Amino acid sequence: MEIRLKELSIYDSTEIFAMIKEIGPGENGFINEGYRISYSEFRSYLEGNFELSKGTNLSSRYVPQTIYWLYVDYRPVGMGKLRHSLNDSLKKVGGHIGYAIRPSERGKGYGNIILRELLKRAKEKGIDKVFITCIESNIPSRKIIEINNGKLQDIFHGICRYWIYV
Ligand SMILES: CC(C)(COP(=O)(O)OP(=O)(O)OC[C@H]1O[C@@H](n2cnc3c(N)ncnc32)[C@H](O)[C@@H]1OP(=O)(O)O)[C@@H](O)C(=O)NCCC(=O)NCCS
Repeated sequence: MEIRLKELSIYDSTEIFAMIKEIGPGENGFINEGYRISYSEFRSYLEGNFELSKGTNLSSRYVPQTIYWLYVDYRPVGMGKLRHSLNDSLKKVGGHIGYAIRPSERGKGYGNIILRELLKRAKEKGIDKVFITCIESNIPSRKIIEINNGKLQDIFHGICRYWIYV
């Protein structure tokens, strides 16, 4: 199995657009901002996210964030977000990392893989203590976090808050 976590690029193609559409608006606190865009807006979606990853034109409510695509055997199967730091809001809920696997590829272990790969990227960015939050009832995601050495800090209004030391 060939695994690759690829950073978003302004040259990403229609296969990424199709995956974003399949992932839908988001679930369990994961928001997929790309879901509502049309294909004519795809390029500006990519450019906006590329700028966000570099921290340019950042609104005061945002921290720099990089989007990654998980490829398995050259097919995109999921997306992840890595926030480079935490603001007050992300320190409560949201954390450093969010991820989603496209519905047609769920239940194959790719959730475990995408978090493992995102943690490597966090380490490369100098984040050695990763904060991740997850809705209490989201059993697959809790398993993914715990398999990746997540230590439960607490459950805050139905949200599990974990730390992973990378
Ligand atoms: C959560 C999500 C990423 C899981 O992706 P996935 O590729 O299906 O996950 P995996 O196949 O790696 O499975 C992860 C674990 O959950 C278990 N699992 C998968 N589906 C399950 C289900 N419906 N019920 C219970 N456990 C389940 C798997 O058995 C596995 O545990 P194991 O390693 O002990 O066997 C995916 O469902 C998703 O994208 N959901 C919407 C977005 C989301 O919730 N993101 C997380 C926000 S914190």
